[in-house]
Amino acid sequence: MTHPSSTRTVPVPGSVPSHLAIIMDGNGRWARQRGLPRFAGHQRGVESVRRMVRACSERGVRYLTLFAFSTENWRRPADEVALLMQLFIAALTSEVRKLHRNGVRLRVVGDTSRFDPKIQSLVESGERLTENNTGLTLTIAANYGGRWDILQAFARLCREHPDVAERDEITESRLAPYLSMAYAPEPDLFVRTGGESRVSNFLLWQLAYTELYFTDLLWPDFDEAALETAFAWYRARERRFGRTSEQLGEETRAAARPPARAAGG
Ligand code: IPE
Ligand code: IPE
Ligand code: MG
Repeated sequence: MTHPSSTRTVPVPGSVPSHLAIIMDGNGRWARQRGLPRFAGHQRGVESVRRMVRACSERGVRYLTLFAFSTENWRRPADEVALLMQLFIAALTSEVRKLHRNGVRLRVVGDTSRFDPKIQSLVESGERLTENNTGLTLTIAANYGGRWDILQAFARLCREHPDVAERDEITESRLAPYLSMAYAPEPDLFVRTGGESRVSNFLLWQLAYTELYFTDLLWPDFDEAALETAFAWYRARERRFGRTSEQLGEETRAAARPPARAAGG
C-alpha cells in the first residue's frame, strides 16, 4: 500500500510525529573537540542511534528514518569511508537481534549494490528476520540520495509502464509507489543535528511538507531531552498544507461542535 502524499491529502496531526527523519550530523566535530580521531565520534554516534530507537519506540513514533551515509559521502578520505563501512558491519552484526527482540522492523534504503557483499547479506538477513515485526520501523538510509531515489523511481515506472510514459501520464500518485520509502507516510518532522541548515540530498521528494528542525547539538550529544525539545517545537507548529490559518480554526471548531441531531435536545 502507498501512503497518501501530504501534497494531496492532509495528515491527521498527533502529539508525536508518526514519521521522524533525522540527519545525524556532527560526529567528526564531537570527536575533534575532545582531541579524538573522527572515528571515535562515529562510534559514539551509534550509541545515540540506540538511544533514539528506544526513545522513539517508547513514545509511539511509528517510523524512524536515519541518514547514515549519503551518495556524496564517498568523497571522504578512503580510510574514513572504510571505517564507516566496518562500523556498519559491526552495528548490523550486534544490533539486529536486539531490534528483533524489541519488535522493531529494520529496512535499509539506498543503492546498496555498491557496498561490500558482506554488508549486502547482513542487510538482507536483517530485513528478512524483522519483516513481520509490528513495532517501530527503523529505516537506515545508506548510499542514499534524494535525487537518486527520484531517478530510480522514474526509471522503474517507465520500464514497467512504457505506455504511461508515452502518453505523458506520469503523475505524483503513479510515481510515488516506486520511491524507496513508499511503505511509509511522508515524514512529519525532520531533525538535523550539527548546526547546518541544509537538507544535503536527503529525502527530497518526501520532505515537501515536513516540519524542518535544526539544532546545534552534535549527534553524539542528542539525547532524550533533546528529542523532547524537538517534539515540543513540532507540537507548536501549525501545519497548514496550503490552507489559511482561519480555515484551520474553522475545522477545529467544526470538529468540536456536537453532532447536529443532538442539538435539539
Ligand atoms: C555525520 O557526522 C556522520 C556521517 C556523515 C557518516 P560527520 O562525520 O559529518 O561529522 P562532522 O559534520 O564532520 O562533524
Ligand atoms: C549528511 O551529513 C549525510 C549524513 C548524515 C549521512 P554530511 O556531514 O555529509 O553533510 P554535508 O555534506 O556537510 O552537507
Ligand atoms: Mg557532517
